[in-house]
Order: sequence, then C-alpha cells, then structure tokens
Amino acid sequence: MAMARPVMKSGSFGRRPGGIVKKRQTTSNSRGIVQRFGVSMEPALLRRFDALIARKGYATRSEALRDMVRAALAEEALTDERAEVVVTIVLVYDHHLRNLTARLTQHQHDALDLITATLHVHLDEHRCLEVLVARGRYGRVRRFADSLISMKGVQHGDVMVTTLG
Ligand code: NI
Repeated sequence: MAMARPVMKSGSFGRRPGGIVKKRQTTSNSRGIVQRFGVSMEPALLRRFDALIARKGYATRSEALRDMVRAALAEEALTDERAEVVVTIVLVYDHHLRNLTARLTQHQHDALDLITATLHVHLDEHRCLEVLVARGRYGRVRRFADSLISMKGVQHGDVMVTTLG
C-alpha cells in the first residue's frame, strides 16, 4: 500500500527580505555612514558574478552589488501604483505600417502631461526607434507605456523605470 509522503519545505528558503531592519538614519547626510558586511557565495556563482560585473565594467563587486540592490528596491517600490517615477520607453516599429505612426503620435498627444522628452531615430528604410521619457504616477505611466508597446506593428518595446524620492 502506497503511503502519501508529506512534502517538506525548508522554513528559511525563499524568505522575503521584508524582515530587514529599517535603517532610516536622521543624520544630515542622507546616505549615512557606509557599512561593510560579508557576503557568502559558492565559487561557481561567484565566478559568474565576477564575469558579469567585468562585462558590465564595474570596478568593484561592491559597486555592482549596490546597483543590484538599488534595482531590486526600485522594482519593489513599483508595486505602489502611486509612486512617482520617471520611465524611459523604447519602441521599435515599422513606420510603413498603416496608421501606426499616426496612432503612436495620437497616444502621445493624449498624454502630454506625462511625456517629458522624445527622441526619434530612423533606423533603416523601414524601422524607427523612439525613446520617450515619461514622468508621473507609476500606475498611469505604466499603462501608457503598455498601450504603446502592445500596439500592433510595434516590434520591440522596453521600459526602464526609475523611482523618485
Ligand atoms: Ni523614423
């Protein structure tokens, strides 16, 4: 007779970083005193990490790690729809496609209060690259970006979010 085996899960595995002690220092320097901490990593992972940061041109592991932490925190902050953000939107599209250029332009004119800057590059005979910088509440800016990227004929779309404050 087969016995059902209970699935055991490690208690600490996958623990979310929410338990980290809040570190809000009230010194005049908002960055506070730089603190050092040790990081344990298995050799294979460390080799890959070193190769990655070399490719990216970081001078030190610390600098690379700081950027990764900032990116992770920025990403987490985005769960808040009301967060104030600056978003860079990159679009690649075929300008020959019927109505696409007009629709993209119309969408942008409908969101004048969000768009801070635009850059248009004629990539080749057919394709255009557009970079938009939009600023506002994350929820609205994200929906705006998605509405452009999801348009039929947009071949590539990318969004980079920077949180403010
Ligand atoms: Ni063009």
